[in-house]
Amino acid sequence: MQLFLDTTDVAILKDLAMTGLVDGVTTNPTLIAKSGRPMLQVIAEICAAVEGPVSAEVAAMDTAGMLDEGRKLASIAPNVVVKVPLTRDGLIATREFAQEGIATNVTLCFSAAQALLAAKAGASYISPFIGRLDDHGADGMDLIVEIRAIYDNYGFDTEILAASIRSPAHVTTAALAGSDCATIPPDVFNALFKHPLTERGLDQFMSDWAKTGQSIL
Ligand code: E4P
Repeated sequence: MQLFLDTTDVAILKDLAMTGLVDGVTTNPTLIAKSGRPMLQVIAEICAAVEGPVSAEVAAMDTAGMLDEGRKLASIAPNVVVKVPLTRDGLIATREFAQEGIATNVTLCFSAAQALLAAKAGASYISPFIGRLDDHGADGMDLIVEIRAIYDNYGFDTEILAASIRSPAHVTTAALAGSDCATIPPDVFNALFKHPLTERGLDQFMSDWAKTGQSIL
């Protein structure tokens, strides 16, 4: 499973990327706004910091505008993936981007029917928003299961990118459901390393080791 970082914070990205565990990055207009920085500059820096796919979202609502913006974003670096909203105009743009060889991440997916259309349009990635569905009273993970079954039934190669991840449990459930990737906020990514029993066990081991008075080197 590929693990992406959902962030526009380049310092945090570099810190986590040095673990070798970050396969790519996703951004969105809200994260760009939070960074307080020019989008094109942030995307260029992120693309230089990771080799994997970096999703950069268009702001236009119409197909022609999305195509203009997407082509500009794609020209920043070869690893840019143009993020397109799951709307009628967005899927028309997705189809055109696919014909031009520009990778796309179709975002704000909340139903299996939407995911089916995105795959037919030639999306490289589909982003079902798990946490926001949970917030809405549904079980977001059911959507991953449904999309996995549909894509497998028909051999679509669109990758499922579980998004709106709120906890380590979301990551493991998405992995069990066969999601190809998950995009994870930095605080949740850091929580993946941890378990209270690991910390407790390590404290015990280090305490006992100190009593031996030994040194390995
Ligand atoms: C992913 O591409 C989105 O940017 C992100 O996962 C949205 O997460 P949120 O619902 O926590 O804002």
